[in-house]
Amino acid sequence: MIKAVTGTNDILPAEILRWNYLEEIVKKTFAQFNYKEIRTPIFELTQVFARGIGEATDIVSKEMYTFIDRSGDSLTLRPELTASVVRAFVEHSLDKKQGLNKLFYFGPMFRQERPQAGRFRQFHQFGAEALGSHDALVDAEMIIIAYDIIAKLGLKNLEVKINSLGVPNSRKNYKNVLRSYLNEHLDNLSEESLKRLETNILRVFDSKDERDKSVMKSAPLLLDYLDSESIEHFEKVKSALQRANVPYQVDAALVRGLDYYTHTTFEVVSGSVGSQSALCGGGRYNGLVKELGGPDLPGVGFAAGVERILLACENEKSFEAEEERIDVFIITIDKTLQSLSFQTALSLRRSGLIIETDYLSRSVKAQMREANKLNAKFVLFIGGDEFANDEVVLKNMATSEQKNINKENLVEIINKLREN
Ligand code: HAM
Repeated sequence: MIKAVTGTNDILPAEILRWNYLEEIVKKTFAQFNYKEIRTPIFELTQVFARGIGEATDIVSKEMYTFIDRSGDSLTLRPELTASVVRAFVEHSLDKKQGLNKLFYFGPMFRQERPQAGRFRQFHQFGAEALGSHDALVDAEMIIIAYDIIAKLGLKNLEVKINSLGVPNSRKNYKNVLRSYLNEHLDNLSEESLKRLETNILRVFDSKDERDKSVMKSAPLLLDYLDSESIEHFEKVKSALQRANVPYQVDAALVRGLDYYTHTTFEVVSGSVGSQSALCGGGRYNGLVKELGGPDLPGVGFAAGVERILLACENEKSFEAEEERIDVFIITIDKTLQSLSFQTALSLRRSGLIIETDYLSRSVKAQMREANKLNAKFVLFIGGDEFANDEVVLKNMATSEQKNINKENLVEIINKLREN
């Protein structure tokens, strides 16, 4: 047997209902906030991500599916969509068409991580990017959208963490302060953190190593070194969240694993899914558009992991997605009438009803069993004595009431019955 690649999943019909339910809520919520959908290619030139996300990040240095194609180009399966969306924004000069571009997406991403519950190599994200506004209210809007979607799915055990990374200048001063502090504790840092000290010093806050954690407990915090503009921006985000009734906590160690962030960063974390608890993450990235060759325009966005959210929903039993019921199951009594059943099914379908009929030459009893299994609202019998008078028999499965109807009036009658 050939199996699916490690860390990838088949989404089978029984599960797809829950996916569709989530996708509907996502699309409806984005529409309410006037975000327009964007779809970009599954793969991009590697430099889009290397430059966009940052060479020193875990994603770029360890996790990308990168390959050389037959023309010798280095291509990468998208590990996230912010860099792709910004690439498309710049390529199509979307800023010339719209002052503020509010874009959303839904689709698969690829990272070669060690698979575990809630962490896969192909996973799905929905997310949004707003390009063109410095206003802190757009940061707040992103957090509110993420929180509202997750709350609409019925999830309760949530925590919204926010932080500010300020602007590159204030961060530079702070990094020097942090470096001096860490230099005093070199003996107590893990090898990984010693490396990060050189490449990406803020990420030492993300270490799971107990020695690092105890050093970082007393480390100076970036929040205490922010410039006044960054503080003002952060205060505006916080007060908008308060007015929107989004419960949040400031987490001064929330640095996030991608290099492009400035000002606000945030995550929504669930207590119901084990160690891979971040349901979504995002923040502001004011330098990225320029970094990818575009005008000096700001951006802010987030992305949420669909598999993780659905896992949390399952663990909390937060919603049930119901399949649309079959309106009529057509039972062929007389096998010579099979093509009439097929035609009848077709005309009823074309009138907008959900119809199934038998393609396995089953007995009437077995067809009835199938109709019950599918929870059909009505069963239509074609054949038998009634058929001599051009009549078919329609049975209401809820009341067991039976009606003989002329086969010519079928569509009209069934539609009327369905309305009641
Ligand atoms: P990220 O934090 O790398 O951010 O990913 C966002 C979310 O995607 C995570 O919180 C998690 O739910 C999900 N996720 C990430 N990796 C995996 C995985 N291996 N398996 C399952 N789920 C996963 C970004 O991707 C940024 N582009 C977010 C952003 C948009 N920032 C600004 N705009």
